[in-house]
Amino acid sequence: MNINVTNITTPSAKPAKDAALGFGKIFTDHMFQMEYSKEQGWHDARIIPFGKIEIHPASTVLHYGSEIFEGLKAYRKADGSVQLFRPLENIRRMNRSAERMCLPTIPEEDALEILTKFIEHEKDWVPSEPGTSLYIRPFMFGNDESLGVHAVHNATFMIITSPVGSYYPEGINPVKIMIESEDVRAVRGGTGEAKCGGNYAASNRAGERAAQQGYSQVLWLDGVERKYIEEVGAMNVMFKIAGEIVTPKLVGSILPGITRKSCLELLRDEGYTVNERLLSVDELIAALENGTLEEAWGCGTAAVVSPIGELAYNGKKYTINNGQIGTVTQHLYDTLTGIQWGVLEDSYGWTYPIK
Ligand code: PLP
Ligand code: COI
Repeated sequence: MNINVTNITTPSAKPAKDAALGFGKIFTDHMFQMEYSKEQGWHDARIIPFGKIEIHPASTVLHYGSEIFEGLKAYRKADGSVQLFRPLENIRRMNRSAERMCLPTIPEEDALEILTKFIEHEKDWVPSEPGTSLYIRPFMFGNDESLGVHAVHNATFMIITSPVGSYYPEGINPVKIMIESEDVRAVRGGTGEAKCGGNYAASNRAGERAAQQGYSQVLWLDGVERKYIEEVGAMNVMFKIAGEIVTPKLVGSILPGITRKSCLELLRDEGYTVNERLLSVDELIAALENGTLEEAWGCGTAAVVSPIGELAYNGKKYTINNGQIGTVTQHLYDTLTGIQWGVLEDSYGWTYPIK
């Protein structure tokens, strides 16, 4: 694949070693961009200086929300080398999201080549402090310059990258989550299992309400009966109830998380009883009330594994594991981050080295 490279003339200073990176606030010096048209397919692949883009005021994305994105990270190992975590899983999910949103797909091998070459180019931006990484945000949007509503004929694909620390200011300390009983995020047959911008826009109102009451995110219930637990705003969710690890099964309205998949594979291999099943909010509240809910945690690329120390539902607050991180949560965090930063051996072949 031919990728044109235009380098920035004056490179910016990298963040200082002790800088608080936060999440998604600082961007690297370059970005990747290419265009799609029905006639030409994907074309004009280029790495260019990071900057604003021009967009036609009638562009599809601005009116009808044709947008999808992905999120993965590049990690710096102790020997200075850089690796990705299960990048093909992100590429495959992006293509599934594209199909759902009538956006063009990108052949897997091309997408992997683009991703690898771009990260090679921005490699010096991968931070090395403990817990830091380079967050990679590939995204695609419909870019037809007309107001008709139809499948997309023109699209733009881009990648931007951002050196990041923890997603939550709490880091690995337990977060407080509010179970949302009014707004819904997704329904089966809708776009919940696609990683598209609209899902997040629809989530913001509940997220804001929760934040005003001191909660980090909301835990969504299913959109039809408002009965079954689905996922957290930017993470999948898992519970340990009376020894059983339970996570909501993928019914079409939940994002099939790569961290979720990795946690399930690790736990099953280690002999835990793991069930992907429907979990009603009533069952969850009963487990909180009778003391059988041992641990709860969220899992996702940005947040890795994040213990939930408190859940709120219909005005009642429930503390989990005395507000402390639980044994399984800690073990998953240690194992996943160990593999991602190259501290533990990767017997699964999940890591992908960058030259
Ligand atoms: N669910 C939602 C809504 C998300 O935004 C994310 C983050 O990407 C996840 C789950 C976790 O997915 P992954 O582990 O692939 O990052
Ligand atoms: C991720 O974990 O990569 C995400 O995309 C979550 C995000 C919405 C911040």
